[in-house]
Amino acid sequence: MKTKLKVMEKIKVKKIISKSQIQKRVKKLSQTISRDYIKRDLILVGILKGSFVFLADLTRNLKIHHQVDFISVTSYGSSTRASGIVRILKDLSVNIQNRDVLIVEDIVDSGLTLNYIIKNFKTRQPKSLKVITLLNKKKKREVSIPLKYIGFDIPDEFVVGYGLDLNERFRNLPFIAKIEK
Ligand code: IMP
Ligand code: MG
Repeated sequence: MKTKLKVMEKIKVKKIISKSQIQKRVKKLSQTISRDYIKRDLILVGILKGSFVFLADLTRNLKIHHQVDFISVTSYGSSTRASGIVRILKDLSVNIQNRDVLIVEDIVDSGLTLNYIIKNFKTRQPKSLKVITLLNKKKKREVSIPLKYIGFDIPDEFVVGYGLDLNERFRNLPFIAKIEK
């Protein structure tokens, strides 16, 4: 019974990027992508779950024809984290061979997750393979990742909101916030 009575821990968050800042940036990125991918065979691949809000805004701002798909991955746990091996929980539902793939990520930190996904996708022979990330945390990067489009560079702080979570909380915030200690 004790576990059932567990109340939600009070966590304070502090806004660091506002809703209007995000919306403005997403519009600008969408314009650039619409220009770069004109007359191409664009498929946006969102990495679940964190990218779902960003992808939803991107797709609605794009002025060109494109397809949307998702992949869901999980890392093998902290002890093997350095190996960068991730497990695919839900794979793509379409064939990306010969297509222009743009991976949509919420945040790049060590880069290990994306490094694995990029390697994996390359074996499927897409025509082109690029990455867009809303947030870029460079400080703890362990592997170099080519990022074609970046929303915001941020310092090494744990952030939530606009799809990003802390134990599944705060994904619904319309802004990006840091966790207050
Ligand atoms: P990486 O493999 O270290 O680059 O980790 C990337 C993944 O870790 C992201 O896709 C997020 O799911 C998660 N992550 C990293 N930093 C944060 C953060 O500050 N807030 C929420 N999730 C994060
Ligand atoms: Mg993610």
